[in-house]
Amino acid sequence: MIIRTGVDVCSIRRIQNAIKSGGSNFLRRVFTAREIEYCDSKRATRFQHYAVRFAAKEAFLKAVASAPKPLILRDVEVTRLPSGRPALILSAAVKKEARISGDTKIILSMSHEKDFAVSLVILFTMPKTLSRSPRKH
Ligand SMILES: CC(C)(COP(=O)(O)OP(=O)(O)OC[C@H]1O[C@@H](n2cnc3c(N)ncnc32)[C@H](O)[C@@H]1OP(=O)(O)O)[C@@H](O)C(=O)NCCC(=O)NCCS
Repeated sequence: MIIRTGVDVCSIRRIQNAIKSGGSNFLRRVFTAREIEYCDSKRATRFQHYAVRFAAKEAFLKAVASAPKPLILRDVEVTRLPSGRPALILSAAVKKEARISGDTKIILSMSHEKDFAVSLVILFTMPKTLSRSPRKH
């Protein structure tokens, strides 16, 4: 099994300042329309939701640190499964640059508080020998 991890912590104040000074240009450069819609719907805690998504994107970049070209943060999208559990959607360009194949599994875990947000990304692939059906003797 090949396993790669990335973790990132983001200050809520730092992302709040970046959004306030960078405005919609900053938001659209870093976040997708769906991410912006979700975070803004949270109103009072919106900066926590932005911060944890920023940390998730950075954590993913750390996990794939060997990517030959710089990756665009907006191409790494945090989505929510029906259970509320977060997951990553990667653009075709990111999959190509980061060499993420169809059998790569991605686990994302996120947590946020008043001052800080933290995200952890784990990438892994199962060895081919385990995914093959057992041999008949
Ligand atoms: C899910 C739960 C643990 C989140 O804990 P919390 O202290 O409120 O929130 P945290 O700051 O630590 O984390 C928030 C993030 O948790 C993530 N999250 C939400 N539901 C989740 C779930 N079911 N599994 C994993 N992560 C989840 C989200 O990404 C959320 O951030 P976002 O709203 O910006 O996307 C909490 O809501 C809970 O205990 N719920 C009741 C049990 C439950 O719903 N279990 C899941 C189904 S069995």
